[in-house]
Parts: sequence; structure tokens; C-alpha cells
Amino acid sequence: MTSDPNKRLAVLISGRGTNLQSLIDAVHDRRLDATIAVVISNRADAAGLERARRAGIETLVLSHRDWPSREEYDRAILSELQVRDVGMVCLAGFMRVFSRVMLDAFPNAILNIHPSLLPSFPGLHAPRQALAHGVKVSGVTVHLVTAELDAGPIIVQRTVPVLENDTEETLAARILVEEHQAFPEAVQRLLDGGWIVNGRRFVKA
Ligand code: GRF
Repeated sequence: MTSDPNKRLAVLISGRGTNLQSLIDAVHDRRLDATIAVVISNRADAAGLERARRAGIETLVLSHRDWPSREEYDRAILSELQVRDVGMVCLAGFMRVFSRVMLDAFPNAILNIHPSLLPSFPGLHAPRQALAHGVKVSGVTVHLVTAELDAGPIIVQRTVPVLENDTEETLAARILVEEHQAFPEAVQRLLDGGWIVNGRRFVKA
């Protein structure tokens, strides 16, 4: 356990949770000096919840359907994070967009992972978009979350080639391997400090 509140992470998921697993493994292997205080899913059937339970991490299911507005849903998440002294929020395949409620509560402390080299191919089905566009290189981006979807300052990017015989599935799988390296690396970089956001750029202070 770490007691420093800024090292207490919440990981938010909606699905299978392989990126959550990469964070769990990185903490376990001491590549990531942090504690995962809680895993929150907006879906009760998210397979990632089982990964958290197996690792002995507290889980919560907060379905967005149980709150009348985005802001009220965010307030519910926020109060769960506050009672657990969470200092950083990792969106690991969490399929909801935050309102100002969460953004203002965690300035430069919410990270998202996206399976493309942003700013190319934001939004859903990024590997499908990359294939359809015919790019030769794709990859993963870990970025700070801002009000604009998939457009915050970039912390880490890793590239993969796009092969002639790729399908959406094979490309997504190749990107996923890099995702699992990039996410823990980005979280650690953020926790290490010594950086500033200069315009759009995440750079050394
Ligand atoms: C990943 O491809 C991530 O980049 C995107 O959603 C997917 C989540 O996969 N945001 P998993 O649930 O972490 O396996």
C-alpha cells in the first residue's frame, strides 16, 4: 500500500479489462509505483470486474442508467473516489464521456487510452477507421482527458505497422500489445511529476 494520496488510482472500465490487467500487473511487478484503490464499471457484466476481484481490488458497479444526467452520474462517481482518497483516474475502456464535474475535480489527473495515433481516428472503432483510411502505421495514445473527446495532451504514443492482410481484429490485437506497455508507462510518468502542459504539449517542466 502507498499512503500518498496522489498514488491512489481508480480504474474505470466498461468491458473485458485487459488494460486494467496491465495496470494490475505493473503494480505487482513494481513497474508502477501506485495502488489501485478501486475499480468502477458502468456495466455489471464487465469481465474486467473479475480481474479486479481476483487481484483483491475493491469493485463498484455504477450504472449510468441509474442517474438522470451526466452531471449527477459524475457526482456519484466523484463521491466514491473522494471517500477513497483517489488522486488519479485511469479510463481503461470506459465508454462514458465525463462532464465538467469530473474534469474540474481531477485537473490533469484523468488519463484515457485510445487505440490510434491521435489526432487520427478519435471516437469508436479506431482500428476499423485506420484500415478504412489505408494508413500504413497506427498505434496507441495515452492522453490527459479534457472536455474535447480524445483530444487532450498526449503523454505516450507507441506505433505498430498496418499490414496488407490485416483485419480490424488483427490490427486491434497488434495495437493492444502496445497498449499494455503504454498505459502503465504513462501513469508512472504522470506520477513522477516534473512535467507541465504547455499549450497542447505534455513536456518536462
Ligand atoms: C482498448 O482498445 C482501449 O484502447 C479502448 O478500449 C479498449 C479497452 O480494452 N479505449 P480492454 O477492456 O482494456 O481490454
